[in-house]
Amino acid sequence: MSRARSVLRVCLLAAAVLCASGFRLPQSLSAGAAPANGDGGRGGGGRSRDAVLNERPIIGILSQPGPPAPEGSSYIAASYAKWIEAAGARVIPIFFDETQEELREKFGVINGLLLPGGGANLTPGHPFYDAASTLVNMAIKANDQGDYFPVHGTCLGLETLSIIVSGNYSLLSDMDAEDAPAPLLYTDVAEDSHFISSLPPSVVRNLQNTPIAMENHMHGVLPQAYEENPAFKRFFKVLSLSLDKKGLPYISTLEARQWPTFLNIPHSPEAVVMGQEVANFFVREARRNKHAPRDEMQEDGMLLYQYKPEFTGRHRSTGGEEEDFEQTYIFSGPAARLAANAAKAAGAAARAAKAAAAGAGAAPAAGGAAGMAAAR
Ligand SMILES: *[C@@H]1O[C@H](CO)[C@@H](O)[C@H](O)[C@H]1NC(C)=O
Repeated sequence: MSRARSVLRVCLLAAAVLCASGFRLPQSLSAGAAPANGDGGRGGGGRSRDAVLNERPIIGILSQPGPPAPEGSSYIAASYAKWIEAAGARVIPIFFDETQEELREKFGVINGLLLPGGGANLTPGHPFYDAASTLVNMAIKANDQGDYFPVHGTCLGLETLSIIVSGNYSLLSDMDAEDAPAPLLYTDVAEDSHFISSLPPSVVRNLQNTPIAMENHMHGVLPQAYEENPAFKRFFKVLSLSLDKKGLPYISTLEARQWPTFLNIPHSPEAVVMGQEVANFFVREARRNKHAPRDEMQEDGMLLYQYKPEFTGRHRSTGGEEEDFEQTYIFSGPAARLAANAAKAAGAAARAAKAAAAGAGAAPAAGGAAGMAAAR
């Protein structure tokens, strides 16, 4: 239906970019290779040095236009919200069609950003790309200024990050990795990376030995593109490659050199543990960020809890990967959001007026009954 589908249909749950020759792949990370943190991986690679962690981390998830969201609205798959919530953070939806001011306000409240999988047009002038680009650039600037702010891109999210960082809209190549969970082939910088070294060794081994990383991509970044795009190469380290169905290697995990980013998710017990550990890692990173809502009103107005997810599995029969999300939050567009906010404000004003009237009526004995009645 939408332009979003035609231009860049990407993946669902997994991360992905790509690779080619030129990467030395170690035979394997030996059993003990992934440095275990003293606390079994939960310390986040030395994070325990940070005395004060944010105990109320909030992750912003960027919504996307396109199915299963009706025209003019956008969606976030409920699975991404659950993934974040299971690791102890709350979620604020960020709508792809918000104004720069709204994006800035939300950025000041969230402690990390998740760019989920899906499909979208990744060129400037398209609102999803523009919103992602605005947020990622805010994150880069914040990190440059010592405001530790993690970004996690899964699949389309990773592809979006790659394009923003490289500034090259032709970075991605077509590939054949739809619904193709694959083992990760670690590069020789993987084991020293912040991400891999923060995972429990058993998860690192399972990612390498079994296809528990969900890979579902029609596009990816090839190793050759990594070599051909200096800005991209300067920003990211390649932690792993995977092979598509035709044996073409693509980049499956990236980590920013200066600050954190990456991948993920099938459903075997090992895969569930892996997914949980990746979420734990991301949220642990977010706990280092100190952004906070200015008050409960602002927080309540933003949290995902006020929305109801819908069953969208019924769209499955119409085809298309995005429609495989079985439960989804759907958000109306800017006009409907404005109207809803105006209605909310009017309701609050009306309640305040009634309360004031009730207060005024309660004092004089004569007006009391009338005042109370008016307040009901
Ligand atoms: C963009 O990336 C592709 C793939 O690596 C490359 O062939 C092309 O030269 C790059 N374009 C620019 C402007 O750097």
